[in-house]
Amino acid sequence: MASLTVRKLDEALKASLRLRAAKAGRSVEDEVRMILREAAEPQAVKPPSGPARNQPHRARASSATDLPRVTLIIGGGIAAYKALDLIRRLKERDIHVRCVMTRAAQQFVTPLTAGALADERCYTDLFDAQSEFDAGHIRLARDTDLIIVAPATADLMAKMAQGHADDLATAILLATNRPVLVAPAMNPLMWANVATKRNVAQLAHDGVSFIGPNSGEMAEANEAGVGRMSEPTEIAVAAEAMLRPPQTGPLAGKKILITAGPTHEPIDPVRYIANRSSGKQGYAIAASAAEAGADVTLISGPVDLDDPTGVRVIRVESARDMLAQVEAALPIDIAIFAAAVADWRIANAGEQKIKKTASGMPPLQLVENPDILATISKHQQNRPQLVIGFAAETQNLIENATSKLKRKGCDWIVANDVSPASGVMGGDRNTVHILTRDNAEVAVDSWPVMTKEEVADALVAKIASTIGQQNS
Ligand SMILES: Cc1cc2nc3c(=O)[nH]c(=O)nc-3n(C[C@H](O)[C@H](O)[C@H](O)COP(=O)(O)O)c2cc1C
Repeated sequence: MASLTVRKLDEALKASLRLRAAKAGRSVEDEVRMILREAAEPQAVKPPSGPARNQPHRARASSATDLPRVTLIIGGGIAAYKALDLIRRLKERDIHVRCVMTRAAQQFVTPLTAGALADERCYTDLFDAQSEFDAGHIRLARDTDLIIVAPATADLMAKMAQGHADDLATAILLATNRPVLVAPAMNPLMWANVATKRNVAQLAHDGVSFIGPNSGEMAEANEAGVGRMSEPTEIAVAAEAMLRPPQTGPLAGKKILITAGPTHEPIDPVRYIANRSSGKQGYAIAASAAEAGADVTLISGPVDLDDPTGVRVIRVESARDMLAQVEAALPIDIAIFAAAVADWRIANAGEQKIKKTASGMPPLQLVENPDILATISKHQQNRPQLVIGFAAETQNLIENATSKLKRKGCDWIVANDVSPASGVMGGDRNTVHILTRDNAEVAVDSWPVMTKEEVADALVAKIASTIGQQNS
């Protein structure tokens, strides 16, 4: 009805309506609705204020129409059936769901089922005369607080990374200025393919959030590995964290960056140098910081761990990739470098698989990797307020960690003994010593053996109290 009204207006009025709608981040149709509502209930409606780009609308009101809104894009993978459960999991959290299906998705589940579960028709067609008379794909892209892509097929992510817009799903994704949460689901080999990795890295760089994939059994017989879509409840929890981020907590409003896991330094396309880091300690810190209300970005080397809830996870391989992602995440308030970054990489990594020859082993030359901790600690424009490094040592723990604290220019070092006897690398427990600067001296606080989750909670509590004191 509102669109018919708009059509009958003169051009000048239409132009000013379009401007007003654009400023508020709404469709013209929604702007007209807002004006009508304002006219009907002048006391009840606040003046329009446009949402910042890529920020969810946080406005909460009492009526059902003001529930947070999700546009769920269902891609064409076997996990599409789980998207139907996701609709219910979102709705039970008081989230309004509107579904969009790709053509391939309709081979797995029907728009009728999705529409019935969502209580609203499911959109499938870019050239739909019913919804496109007022550029409906733009409306679908904007009249939402969050877009979820689940399952995100390898194909859909490739199109997103390239900016394609040749169907309704991709046109919405290209036209939106709302946050996007992607839940990939595919065969482990598709997920491990360099093309997929490239697309995922590009999307993460573009600000897209990811949940999963998890590892486990595939639908195909005898197939298992990383590629299973996250469970609907996990996706719903992550969506809720994005739609209703914790406003309270000791680290509310703080941007924290954490690195975790090992790095892989290629020898050739199939071999690499790595270390035994599991990423568990860094992931636990990320989870704890998110629970404390922080806005957390976790930059992770290759690990076999699920994404912590409410955390933006960016996956990288090498030390140089990790540094690039860390620098892209600046400015931040707090940086915690828990990753076991390789000190060296192969200078002459092979473009092709290096073959055995009669002349013996190929000489592998090592070259130093960039020092992420030192680079950020000494950053000229964007040094975080608090920079914390980790020291993983197998001997002279405190002595080596003290020298690292002085050399790198960071504020604290979390030192842990990673000799095989300690069981720390890959294990669930940790014994840490916190080294801090005490004027010209270094103070050492030795904590008892704890689970990695307990270490994370204690570290986050210490950070919160330090930041609180610095800011008071
Ligand atoms: C039985 C079957 C299952 C499939 N499962 C997946 C899957 O889980 N993940 C995936 O990325 N592609 C899967 N595909 C391939 C996609 O359906 C195909 O790439 C399609 O073009 C994706 O279209 P969309 O991205 O527009 O939804 C599957 C194909 C078939 C025939």
